[in-house]
Amino acid sequence: MHLATVLFALASSIQPCAGYVAQSRLNDLHCTKTTVAILGGGMAGVTAAQALANASVTDFLIVEYRDTLGGRVRHTEFGKDPNGDPYVIELGANWVQGLGSATTENPIWRLAQKYSLQNTYSNYDSILTYNETGYTDYSHILDEYSVARQKASEHAGQILNNNLQDMTARSGLALAGWNPRRDDMAAQAVEWWNWDWEGAYSPETSSFVFGVAGENLTFNQFGDDNNLILDPRGYSSIIHGEATTFLTPNDPRLLLNTQVSEIHHSPNGITIHNSDGTCISAAYAICTFSVGVLQQSNAVSFTPSLPAWKQTAIAKFNMGTYTKIFMQFNESFWPPETQFFLYASPTTRGYYPVFQSLSAPGFLSPDSNILFVTLVETQAYRAERQSNAETQAEILAVLALMFPDKQIPTPTAFTYPRWSTEPWSYGSYSNWPAGTTLEMHQNLRANVNRLWFAGEATSAQYFGFLHGAWFEGKEAGENVAALLGDECSKTSNSGRGDCKGRKHYGVLHGTTPLGAYTGVNGWGVNSTDIL
Ligand SMILES: Cc1cc2nc3c(=O)[nH]c(=O)nc-3n(C[C@H](O)[C@H](O)[C@H](O)COP(=O)(O)OP(=O)(O)OC[C@H]3O[C@@H](n4cnc5c(N)ncnc54)[C@H](O)[C@@H]3O)c2cc1C
Ligand SMILES: *[C@@H]1O[C@H](CO)[C@@H](O)[C@H](O)[C@H]1NC(C)=O
Ligand SMILES: *[C@@H]1O[C@H](CO)[C@@H](O)[C@H](O)[C@H]1NC(C)=O
Ligand SMILES: *[C@@H]1O[C@H](CO)[C@@H](O)[C@H](O)[C@H]1NC(C)=O
Ligand SMILES: *[C@@H]1O[C@H](CO)[C@@H](O)[C@H](O)[C@H]1NC(C)=O
Ligand SMILES: *[C@@H]1O[C@H](CO)[C@@H](O)[C@H](O)[C@H]1NC(C)=O
Repeated sequence: MHLATVLFALASSIQPCAGYVAQSRLNDLHCTKTTVAILGGGMAGVTAAQALANASVTDFLIVEYRDTLGGRVRHTEFGKDPNGDPYVIELGANWVQGLGSATTENPIWRLAQKYSLQNTYSNYDSILTYNETGYTDYSHILDEYSVARQKASEHAGQILNNNLQDMTARSGLALAGWNPRRDDMAAQAVEWWNWDWEGAYSPETSSFVFGVAGENLTFNQFGDDNNLILDPRGYSSIIHGEATTFLTPNDPRLLLNTQVSEIHHSPNGITIHNSDGTCISAAYAICTFSVGVLQQSNAVSFTPSLPAWKQTAIAKFNMGTYTKIFMQFNESFWPPETQFFLYASPTTRGYYPVFQSLSAPGFLSPDSNILFVTLVETQAYRAERQSNAETQAEILAVLALMFPDKQIPTPTAFTYPRWSTEPWSYGSYSNWPAGTTLEMHQNLRANVNRLWFAGEATSAQYFGFLHGAWFEGKEAGENVAALLGDECSKTSNSGRGDCKGRKHYGVLHGTTPLGAYTGVNGWGVNSTDIL
């Protein structure tokens, strides 16, 4: 029997609960039928499925490219511990960013505690500064940046609250007094560490207002602390763990190793075509693919073409690349107590700028001798096109400059992911570009017919972060569950806000009047605005 037929037989044996009313869908006889197709099994997809299950909508399928759940939360075995067993390192998401409190809970921190993930407070003040002559103390520049940044944050707040025009972070920082010369490489390194390292883009590209607002909304709300997850089960075990709350072992509703290639959408339903020739016919779909995937027209195609407002939003948003390059040595030649080492290249901004030690107290283990260095944007694209050997040689040359008194040994293990070319991700996480209004962003998250969108990038508040993916998955799942519910199925109630789709904007304006919108947690655009 054909696999799709088996899956159809199994999927259709799952009976919907009372209170949930089947709705029309395209009846393609060859396709597996389901009520909701969830496209992607990362944090957003799994959370959307859980929200549906919580609302007693159990007839769904999760379609995932990879052989496992987790998406951009992804680990690998690496190097050897003293017993010869491998360590586990995180290639994607690594921190819980802002731990929250009893009143403002970061859902990711709650899950980290639920599954007892091993984690350590990441101390961004534990940093030493270097340049091409070795250790050289330019930490006073870190303080100068902080002063300007405080001023810039307040200015960004004034722009946001008075509905004034956005600018680049470069301009916003300059107006606050942070305007380093292009040849002041120590200041360039400090700026990279403070801006690019988080945003995965330079201040020239990033939105001033939404870059600052995004940091504020996470760190003012959940607190400044970032804890690094290092757990032998991997950070993704929170996603696997939550999936087991609503999926059974070998649940037929989870289709792994399945690449969606084409999405047909209409007001009556969705048909998904996969690269293996199978197809799925659904009443609704929730697409959680990254902005990077949506931007690659050869990755997934839409029939009919997405409307201009949606295409514009996808083309307009930015997908950053953040590349962590891991090395294990036979010994630690760097200061054992320090967490971060900032390097100012004499020629090239962002050239192997931040090294991070996993041998520091509280991290993997003092004898792990693992160091990793992070690149973003053009330097990441360049390194991701190189061989491991080429990149390793460049890094060893930098380490030799940073530690001139040491003999730098050849790494005993070396690895890094290629996020910019990964066909299920095409980048690491999104960045809000300058000149993008809340309305334009809302067009990224608005549904097209019965095709819904969710993921880190659709979060106006928490774009880029894992908790953004969680909130957006939950909300899309709840929205679709409401559409399927009794209340919305009665035509007399179809005027209800949550019985319609999300609002989108056919005409974009230069700014978005913030006062008009009170969305999730009092910020952003209303999620269930009437079309
Ligand atoms: C290097 C890196 C570092 C990061 N660091 C942090 C951090 O420290 N803290 C933090 O909070 N966040 C961090 N993030 C961001 C965080 O990982 C993401 O915000 C989050 O995992 C996104 O979840 P998602 O469900 O929106 O998307 P994804 O995880 O991308 O899920 C989408 C799923 O869709 C699947 N898919 C794609 N195309 C197809 C297709 N054609 N057919 C079928 N399936 C498909 C993918 O395989 C994937 O599983 C980092 C990300 C990266 C890459
Ligand atoms: C589903 O319900 C459980 C139990 O109440 C809750 O812990 C979980 O957060 C809910 N999931 C979503 C996505 O709302
Ligand atoms: C960011 O937070 C600061 C307080 O720390 C506040 O003064 C500022 O207005 C906020 N800016 C934005 C854009 O939210
Ligand atoms: C690197 O630091 C040394 C010592 O402080 C200094 O003499 C040199 O000018 C610095 N290099 C650059 C490019 O600034
Ligand atoms: C590590 O390897 C280097 C050679 O690459 C060697 O000189 C050094 O003694 C080794 N250190 C230990 C602790 O074995
Ligand atoms: C947004 O939702 C809030 C309630 O959550 C409502 O008071 C407000 O009027 C809505 N705004 C718009 C523009 O619909």
